[in-house]
Formats: sequence, structure tokens, C-alpha cells
Amino acid sequence: MRMTADWTNDAAIERWNASATRESLESTADEGDFAKGHLVNPVLLRLLGDVRDQWVLDAGCGNGYFSRMLATRGARVVGVEPTDTMSAFAREKEDELRQGVTYVQADLARLPDLGVTFDAVVCSMVLMAVPEWKPAMRACVRALRPGGLFVFSLVHPAFERLLGSWREYGEHRAGRYLEPYEIPGPAATDFHRPISAYLNELAALGCRLREVVEPGLDPTVAAHAAPEIPGIEAYVHLPNFLIVAAEAPA
Ligand SMILES: C[S@@+](CC[C@H](N)C(=O)[O-])C[C@H]1O[C@@H](n2cnc3c(N)ncnc32)[C@H](O)[C@@H]1O
Repeated sequence: MRMTADWTNDAAIERWNASATRESLESTADEGDFAKGHLVNPVLLRLLGDVRDQWVLDAGCGNGYFSRMLATRGARVVGVEPTDTMSAFAREKEDELRQGVTYVQADLARLPDLGVTFDAVVCSMVLMAVPEWKPAMRACVRALRPGGLFVFSLVHPAFERLLGSWREYGEHRAGRYLEPYEIPGPAATDFHRPISAYLNELAALGCRLREVVEPGLDPTVAAHAAPEIPGIEAYVHLPNFLIVAAEAPA
């Protein structure tokens, strides 16, 4: 197996590119998947606050669903996405909806000058997918105006196998946490790092932590979804996501 340190951003991006089917892009085009709809999007939107007339960068925007949600709320949005497949889909949606979202195809670690200083950058479910994540995080912070808001979400590094583990054992089990390792997934590979790695890098970039959220699923929503998603009650008791809001240096 390839070791974590052997991965390049290009290789990881190619995996994402190859895994994106038309069906998967379409089925998540409005508000992402079930977990994003119930656990991630409401928190991101609350943390971002009123985005009307704000310049917001959606860093690693995938099919662009969150860019479109932001544009609907009045934000001026730039979406950055490196894959051909997802960039093309996001642009196609823009051609259809004419919301004024600009899409740029780029690796965050090699972000070109976008010609805008952003009020907020949202980087949702991206950094754990990027081998060279520190330059990517740095680019997000540098894209902000002084004191601008950086919001990022991750699969919670302490509960990456939550659903699978819950289905197998009726509880969460993890055998390792401290060292980096790969998490091969159906779409692409994620890369585990402990929470401290992300928070310490944020501090090294001079950011001020504003809020950390570990959202839990509403039990009523879980009960409704249980017949279709076995083990979903795990999300009521344990957090599948870690969401961080921080301010760029003033
Ligand atoms: C789990 S998806 C999340 C996409 C979107 N933010 C969402 O929430 O639906 C991970 C995304 O990270 C993107 N990605 C991977 N490597 C990247 C890089 N080096 N720079 C920018 N985006 C990257 C992938 O192409 C993919 O769109």
C-alpha cells in the first residue's frame, strides 16, 4: 500500500476526478448528502452568518452545491475545485441557474491570485482529502481580508469509522489516532491527522479560534432515517464531523 507521505495532491485529485459520476453529482446537487443536509450545512450557515453582499470563497467546492446555497443567500461566491468532472458540473449548473458564481479550477495548494479579498472562506470536507494540506489551509487564510472568517469542516478525526464501527459492534471502536494514516474510501482516499495538527496549524497561521462544533443528529431525524440508513443513531450519540470557525489575523 502507498504510504501517506508518498501521495501527491495531483494523485489525490485524479482519484476524486475519476470517482465523480454524473449520478452522484446530480443526487447531491441541491444540499449535498443526508449528513451534510442535517449536520454540516446548518452549522456552516450559522457560523458564516449573514452573507448578503459578502465575498465568500468556497474552497474545494466539489459539485458546487454549497456555492449555490451561499449565492441564494446573497453572497458573491467564488468556488475553487481542481477536478475536471466536478468543475464542469458546477459550471454547467451556473450556466443553467445564472446565480453569478465564478468557478476556478485549481489545487488550493497552488491557488492563483483570484483578484478578490474575501470576507469569508469556507472549506468544507476538503482538508482531510488533501495530502499537502498545510499549503491548502494557508491559501485559505491568505485569501481573507484582515479579521475575515475561516470556516472548515472535517470528518471528525476521532470518529472516522463511526457508522461502520457502530453497525459492526454497536459502538465506536478505534485502534489508532496519533499517527497519520490513509483512509481508503469508495470515492477517494482521505488522510488521517489528529485534531491537534489542524488546530495548531491554524494557530501557526495567526488565526484566532472562534468556535468548534461537533454536531449531533436530532433523534427524531435519526428515527425517521433508520430504516434506510442502518446504524444512523450513532450520529445522535457521537460526532461524525468537526467544524471550526476562526478569524484571520487582523
Ligand atoms: C468530500 S469532497 C467535498 C466537496 C464539497 N466541499 C462538498 O462539501 O460537497 C472533497 C473535495 O476536495 C477536493 N479536493 C481534493 N484535493 C484538493 C486540492 N488539492 N485543492 C482543492 N480541492 C481539493 C475534491 O476534488 C473534492 O471536491
